[in-house]
Amino acid sequence: MDSTYFKRYRMEVDLTVPRFAAALPTDYRYVPWNEAVLDIHARTKFRSFRDEIDAVVFPCLGNLEGCRRLMREIRNKSGFLPNATWLIAHGSTPESLQWCGTIQGITERGGGGMIQNIGVVPGHRGLSLGTCLIERSLAGFRMHGLSRVGLEVTAENASAVRLYQRLGFRRVRTVYKVVDEDAVVA
Ligand SMILES: CC(C)(COP(=O)(O)OP(=O)(O)OC[C@H]1O[C@@H](n2cnc3c(N)ncnc32)[C@H](O)[C@@H]1OP(=O)(O)O)[C@@H](O)C(=O)NCCC(=O)NCCS
Repeated sequence: MDSTYFKRYRMEVDLTVPRFAAALPTDYRYVPWNEAVLDIHARTKFRSFRDEIDAVVFPCLGNLEGCRRLMREIRNKSGFLPNATWLIAHGSTPESLQWCGTIQGITERGGGGMIQNIGVVPGHRGLSLGTCLIERSLAGFRMHGLSRVGLEVTAENASAVRLYQRLGFRRVRTVYKVVDEDAVVA
C-alpha cells in the first residue's frame, strides 16, 4: 500500500518570558471547560478542521464522530488540563449563539505542556481569535506552573506556522506523519 509523508514541526514556547494578554473582539467571549461542553468542543473542532490539510493528515478530524472520539481521548488523558482548554462563543442570546473556536491542553510526563488542537471556524478567522485562544491556554499552563509548552503543526499549514511564530513558538524538531494512500483519497 502506498503512503504519503507529511512533514510536521514540533514547536515550543518559553513561558518564563512575559506575555501580553490578547483582547477578544466585541461580542466574543471565552467559555471555560466543564464536562457539559465536551460535545461542543468536538463539533467546533469538526467545523474548524473538516476542509483543512490536518483532516487529511489525521482523517478523524474530517468527521464528527472522529472528533468526538478524539475529544473523549483528550479528556481522559491523565494530564488533561481544564485551565488550558477553552471555547470561544459569539452572540448573547440562544438564537444568536455561535461556537467559533476551540483549544485543548494537556501536561506531559517530562513537565511541559502540549496544545492539542486549536481550531477557529471559517467565517470567524483573521479576527485574532486564534491568537486569543493560544494566549488564554498558555495562561492556563502558566497557572499550573509550567514553563514550556509545545505543539505540532503540519509544515504546509503556513498560516498556522506564522501564527505560532508570531506568538513566540520556535521550531525544535521536524517529524513525519505517515498516512496510508487510501486514507488520503478517502
Ligand atoms: C490556524 C487558525 C487557528 C488561526 O485562527 P485565526 O483566528 O484566523 O487566527 P488569528 O486571527 O489570530 O491570526 C490569523 C491571521 O489573521 C491576522 N489577523 C489577526 N487579527 C486580525 C484582524 N483584526 N484583522 C485582520 N487580520 C488579522 C493575523 O495577523 C494572522 O495573519 P497571518 O496569517 O499573516 O499570520 C485557523 O486558521 C484554523 O482554525 N485553521 C484550521 C485548523 C488548523 O489548521 N489549526 C491549526 C492546527 S496546528
